[in-house]
Amino acid sequence: MNAIDKFARNLLDTETVTSVSRRGFLKTSATVATGMLYGCGTGAEDGIKQGTGQVRLTPPTGVEDEAWADIRAQFLLDPGIAYMNNASLGMPPSQIVESVRAGYEAISREPLHGKQALQTTITEKVLPGLATLFGVTSGEISLTRNATEALHLQSVGLDLAPGDEVLVTTQEHPAGIRPWMLREARDGIRITEVFIPSPFQTDMEVVGLMESAITDRTKAISFCHVTRGGHLYPVKKLASMAHERGLACLVDGAQAVGQFPIDLVDLGCDAYSASLHKWLLGPAGTGFLYIRRSARNRIKTAFAPDATPDAPAFDPPGTADFPLRAALMTMLNFVNAIGLERIDARCRYLSNYLKDQLSELAPVTILSGPPEVSCPGSTIFEVSGLDAIAAVPMMEQRGRVHIDEHQRDGHDAIRVSTHFYNTRAEIDRLVDVLRSVA
Ligand SMILES: Cc1ncc(COP(=O)(O)O)c(C=O)c1O
Repeated sequence: MNAIDKFARNLLDTETVTSVSRRGFLKTSATVATGMLYGCGTGAEDGIKQGTGQVRLTPPTGVEDEAWADIRAQFLLDPGIAYMNNASLGMPPSQIVESVRAGYEAISREPLHGKQALQTTITEKVLPGLATLFGVTSGEISLTRNATEALHLQSVGLDLAPGDEVLVTTQEHPAGIRPWMLREARDGIRITEVFIPSPFQTDMEVVGLMESAITDRTKAISFCHVTRGGHLYPVKKLASMAHERGLACLVDGAQAVGQFPIDLVDLGCDAYSASLHKWLLGPAGTGFLYIRRSARNRIKTAFAPDATPDAPAFDPPGTADFPLRAALMTMLNFVNAIGLERIDARCRYLSNYLKDQLSELAPVTILSGPPEVSCPGSTIFEVSGLDAIAAVPMMEQRGRVHIDEHQRDGHDAIRVSTHFYNTRAEIDRLVDVLRSVA
């Protein structure tokens, strides 16, 4: 069997989930790496095997650091850095890094069959795997480079006439608002920004504010599932309210996917755009667009003149980054081996710990809402007298702590986004640095 055949066989081997620890990765030789890491596990019970694939890593049994130490060992982060900016860019574990490398090797050694093998993985494993994770069908999911691209496609694709109105909130990311601005300039639609307080206290507060802004001209509502600052929106309630009024409901899921389980059918929205390189830890440059099958009559492709409801052609055309996309198989294996419920609980545990520590610092005001309306992983807070933008390099210089600012929603806030791989010790370090400057 030649190297490409072996590679293709490994891509499709439904029994193998392999992984390498950080040390194992650093020692990895090309022969060990090629293709092995695309094996597709069937779910949490497969666990994550180590090294040669013989050693299973048992899914964590609790939320404490000790239970997650083996998972943490899968990451390549330079020792000494406390990485708490996952909401900007997730940190892929060594298995995903290795999958990307193996994919590039495959198309470099033998482009024809290497590309075919990667395409097969994408079609037969990645798309069905993503569809299963989000409770939809493969045909409703298109791979994109990121959430921004998907948000453009869903907004540009919505049937709107001049004068039609779209409601957005004051908490959108530019990626969520700029496509509507394009349509305003090009198609003469109206954008109305609905003020949502930061934080808000209940689901119904948001539903009420959106509902009361609806006018005769409103045709759609568009908002984040989780905002950049970590506020959690009631997608299901908003989608249901929108549909009762005949409006389309389009969602920005960039900050939501990977933090907690999501069933897109249950949420009921018409379109959902997401990044895979944030909380799901996929390779940078990956995302997806979901268009609900029944929404194809009002959301259309931006690409194909001959699209039909049965062949909607939402996929961005042309040559794709096959190695990145095929490595999403490994991302799915990794996340499924742990389980999104466990990830949700672990992230919530860490952010609760952070909030407890911060609440002991007098000049700190926590701006994240109660658990029902805040995501598990991101926390925002102001430190009196501390400019948030200046705080970012300062935290890095003083403690090698990587965070981000959140000078939005009326705040001069710091954003700390902790994922399951962070530890209490890292949070203590962050709080110590803050204490020393506050
Ligand atoms: C709420 C929200 N939407 C969209 C985006 C854009 O994501 P991407 O850079 O993956 O396109 C971000 C990025 O931080 C975000 O926070």
